[in-house]
Amino acid sequence: MKKAEQVILIGFMGSGKSSIGIKLSYRLKRTLLDTDKQIERKQGKSISEIFAQDGETAFRQMETAYLQELLSTGEQQIISTGGGTPLREENRALLKQLGVVFYLQVSPETVYERLKGDTTRPLLRTKNPMERITELLESRKALYEAAADYVISVDGKSLEDIVEEIANYMEEKR
Ligand code: S3P
Repeated sequence: MKKAEQVILIGFMGSGKSSIGIKLSYRLKRTLLDTDKQIERKQGKSISEIFAQDGETAFRQMETAYLQELLSTGEQQIISTGGGTPLREENRALLKQLGVVFYLQVSPETVYERLKGDTTRPLLRTKNPMERITELLESRKALYEAAADYVISVDGKSLEDIVEEIANYMEEKR
């Protein structure tokens, strides 16, 4: 097999990567790895603390280092990424090497509804989160698409429907 064949979930904050990852891990009987959680564990601090104390660039470097580490495991897992993981070209290449990349495409309105009041996303702590979400999504759209093997529009779909769509794609690929 050319690729490690991990199932990789990418997409904006609030697109459902973590919740879908959990359901998918039961459906496909695979372990779920959440890159943000692994980085927090390794660093012994939260993503907000990493951004505040070390800065975004240092965090992006941690993401790349973790993806490189995953390449050496070769296991069949599900990897839920941070919303900014596909921004670096190097990371997009690493994701492709790791396995099949599913992009969970979401509208700014859905993100806003899901994350209003959230305090754990440093990038959305602004006076006008809707404006920030729209700008970030627009600037990232092409990068998410470039990283993806398969695009799933998640607005208005149940978690179960999305999980089935991913599971069917993986089963057909075999
Ligand atoms: C980020 C998304 C977050 C986390 C960090 C930066 C981003 O992950 O990695 O706050 O740049 O979009 P989630 O997508 O899991 O919220």
